[in-house]
Amino acid sequence: MRRVDEYLDINRANWDERAPAHAISPDYDLVRLIDDPTSISNVVRFDRALLGDVSGLSGVHLQCHIGTDTISLSRLGARMTGLDFSPAAIGEARALVARSGDEVTFVESDVYEAASALGGEKFDLVFTGIGALCWLPSISRWAATVAALLKPGGRLFIREGHPMLWALADARPDGLLVVDLPYFERDEPSVWEDGGTYVETDAVFTANTTHEWNHGLGEILTALITEGLQITGLVEHDSVPWEALLGQMTKDEHGEWRLSDRPWRLAASYTLQAVKPR
Ligand SMILES: C[S@@+](CC[C@H](N)C(=O)[O-])C[C@H]1O[C@@H](n2cnc3c(N)ncnc32)[C@H](O)[C@@H]1O
Repeated sequence: MRRVDEYLDINRANWDERAPAHAISPDYDLVRLIDDPTSISNVVRFDRALLGDVSGLSGVHLQCHIGTDTISLSRLGARMTGLDFSPAAIGEARALVARSGDEVTFVESDVYEAASALGGEKFDLVFTGIGALCWLPSISRWAATVAALLKPGGRLFIREGHPMLWALADARPDGLLVVDLPYFERDEPSVWEDGGTYVETDAVFTANTTHEWNHGLGEILTALITEGLQITGLVEHDSVPWEALLGQMTKDEHGEWRLSDRPWRLAASYTLQAVKPR
C-alpha cells in the first residue's frame, strides 16, 4: 500500500538531484551574488515594489531552495532563516553563504513541520513562492503553517505561479492556451516524469518523477482567511520568472517571461499579502 507521505520521498529525490545543477547554472548566477555583496536576485528585485521595507524584520523563507532569494532579503536588511526539505538544496544554500559572507540560517524540514523545526520561533515576515505551492498536497495545511509562524502583526508575502498558468496544456502550434490540467486542489497528485529542469544545464538526472498539486486562487485566499489572516493585497502579473510555457514566452531584461503573443491573455503569476492581526 502507498504511504500517504510517499510524495515527500519522491519529490525530495528529484530536488536533491537538481539542486547542485542549479547552483552551477548561469540562471541562478551565484557568482554574481558572491562577487557583489550588494546584488540581489531577479526575483527579489521584482518583488521590492510590493514588498516595501523589510529592514529590521525577522523573516523565514519557506521552500528556500539554494538560498538566493533568502540572502537577497537579508541584504535588504531582514534577519533571515531559510527552510527547505532537500538536504542537497540546504547544503548548497549553506555553501553559498559560506562564500558570500551573508548571515543567514538554513534549516532542513518539510514545510508542514516548519513550526516545530524552527523551535516555535515566530516571525515578522513569512516569504515564499516561485514554484513552492505546487509541491504541497493541502493548501489548508500550508495556511495553518504560515499562521503558526507569524507573530501578531506579522505578514505573509508570496509571489507564485498563477493556478491558471499551471492548469494550461503545453504549447500548441496554433498558439492557443488550452486548459487541460486541474485548477482546483484534488486529493490525487498530478504525477510527472521529466528528465529536465527549469535552468540551463548539461546534467543528466535519474530521479525524474514528481507529485504535484494545483490550488485555485480562491482556495488559497480562503485557506488564509480561515486561519484568521487578513488579506492586504492581491496583484496579478502577466509575467513569471521562469519559462513556464516552453517556446511560447519571451524573456525581458529583468528575467521575467511573458507570452510572446498577446501577453494580456494570461495572469502568469500573482503577489498575495496577508497580515496576522495583533
Ligand atoms: C522551485 S523551488 C523554489 C524556488 C525558489 N523560489 C527559488 O527559485 O530559489 C521549490 C523548492 O521547494 C522545496 N520543496 C518541495 N517540497 C517541499 C516540502 N514539502 N517541504 C519543504 N520544501 C519543499 C524543494 O526542495 C525546492 O527547493
